[in-house]
Amino acid sequence: MCGIIGYVGNNAAIPILIGGLESLEYRGYDSAGVCVLNKSELQVVKNKGKVIEIKNDKRINLIEGVCGIAHTRWATHGEPNEINAHPHTNSSNSIAVVHNGIIENYHSLKRLLEKEGYIFRSETDSEVLVHLVEKFYRNCSLGSAVLEALRLVEGTFGLAVVHKNKNEIIAARRGSPLVIGLGDNEAFLASDATALVKYTKRVIYLKDNEIAIINNKEIHIKNFDGENVSLNVENLKLEVEQIEKGSYKHFMLKEIFEQPDSVKRTLTGRLKNSRIKLSLNLQDIRSIQRLILVGCGTSWHSALIGKYLIENMAKIPVEVDYASEFRYRRPLVVRNDLVVGISQSGETADTLAAVREAKLLGANTIGLVNVVGSSIARECDSGIYLHAGPEIGVASTKAFTSQVTALLLLALYLAEIRGEKIEENLFRELENLPKQVKEVLSEADNVRKVAEKYYKSSNFIFLGRGINYPVALEGALKLKEISYIHAEGYPAAEMKHGPIALVDENMPTVFICTKDSTYDKIISNMQEIKARKGKIIALVNEIDPRLSVLADDVIFSQKTDEFLSPIVNSIPLQLFAYFIADLKGLDIDKPRNLAKSVTIE
Ligand code: F6R
Repeated sequence: MCGIIGYVGNNAAIPILIGGLESLEYRGYDSAGVCVLNKSELQVVKNKGKVIEIKNDKRINLIEGVCGIAHTRWATHGEPNEINAHPHTNSSNSIAVVHNGIIENYHSLKRLLEKEGYIFRSETDSEVLVHLVEKFYRNCSLGSAVLEALRLVEGTFGLAVVHKNKNEIIAARRGSPLVIGLGDNEAFLASDATALVKYTKRVIYLKDNEIAIINNKEIHIKNFDGENVSLNVENLKLEVEQIEKGSYKHFMLKEIFEQPDSVKRTLTGRLKNSRIKLSLNLQDIRSIQRLILVGCGTSWHSALIGKYLIENMAKIPVEVDYASEFRYRRPLVVRNDLVVGISQSGETADTLAAVREAKLLGANTIGLVNVVGSSIARECDSGIYLHAGPEIGVASTKAFTSQVTALLLLALYLAEIRGEKIEENLFRELENLPKQVKEVLSEADNVRKVAEKYYKSSNFIFLGRGINYPVALEGALKLKEISYIHAEGYPAAEMKHGPIALVDENMPTVFICTKDSTYDKIISNMQEIKARKGKIIALVNEIDPRLSVLADDVIFSQKTDEFLSPIVNSIPLQLFAYFIADLKGLDIDKPRNLAKSVTIE
């Protein structure tokens, strides 16, 4: 949510800042701005809209300088326009700030500053920061002024500050990620390491309540108590190709097609001779009485599948909660509970807070996280990295299938510890899974043909049962978030209890009806829709004469073990959503109102 990039060195800052904004645009794209120091002057250019607006702005070509900061915004306070875009500057244009997060007490700080004569220009919460820094910048370093300012601030922030006379960037973090990149006589700052990989692989992740003073010669980090912190330089395991679209039209399509590899990477080194190897450093894993799986959006859907897997295989009760509900409902968590935070980004504010709450209540915590070194990964007692690779498309695809794969591994691991018997065939199917994911992708052309028939529909229903009910939810979410078509997912049997009223000849219903223990039941549900003249798209993995009567269109999935079916079944639905949005000519990687990595509550 919002992207920050900074550069200080000997090269022109603008190309690096604009390139960085392009890499970070998936974090927010309603306005963008840059600020570069030149001859004791701050040159600021801001625009409403996507980064391309700023890139094409003629004023950018006039900017010179080797130190600057930039920001791409996802609006919280104040509509997306040029004034509310970051960087924000003070009245004398000597200090500029970019901010990611929310300043919760900005009303009272603003009142206080206004009484002292500070003039506000924007409607944002972030603007208080620049005036506060100005207020404290008296006979002290810029870093000390930022620290003083932050002592008054409640809420979350990842921020960067520059002053017109200083070739340095001050960065500070509480709750919103920031990573510093080290070069030769140059340094970088970004909300996400993917923006840095072109320039350097040596990075330092700033921790919560730390402030960094960054110039082209050295980096100094202190905690908010003013104590020096030693620099922990890490090596990025990321290649430039991983963050480029290549020949694909969209990142989402690339990421859908990467799934044979991403699923394989989730499995690599963790499955051998029907045994599961996970390095979970948890005390007393044998005495776990209950698991609570928490996540948001797509990650919550994988948690729902995880419940089926763990309860069925390991015979341990599982609860699933939206992270945002869990953290505020005073959950009854006890010592032998294991709380699993599921998150692609590892930065989702609600999931992070839920994990923290669980720890406070004495539970063990595991993170199922994709982004290495992210906040949730660091916060949890132990974890399973997804290794899906960078996911840049805003709609989550490969992270979802890797989450479900990791939950499968966790279920099998717990089953083994508990002495629960698992059919040998499941392990064989699991080894074969990347191949089946590849097979299911070969259905893409047919999925596109079906999408061509339906892309003008205004509403969709997705129905599934059992372990494939969350796949119906996920199919509906994918469609609505990138195509803006209203779609709802339900357990198929629930249909009769209200939603069936929506069915008529214009309402397409997507049935997930691959052969499993609920197959015959779902065929009955299909008949109920057909009787009301609803259009039926059936996702199947076997030819069944009954379906040729009932279904208007058929999409093929693969035959696999029922426990693995959500992984292969979700892929044609990702493609279906993708093709519909593409046929509608929409900006698939940057759907309206959304942003990847929701770092605010
Ligand atoms: C949907 C989507 C979101 C995320 C949600 C949680 O396609 O991407 O619903 O799943 O914002 O994000 P993470 O997994 O990063 O915690």
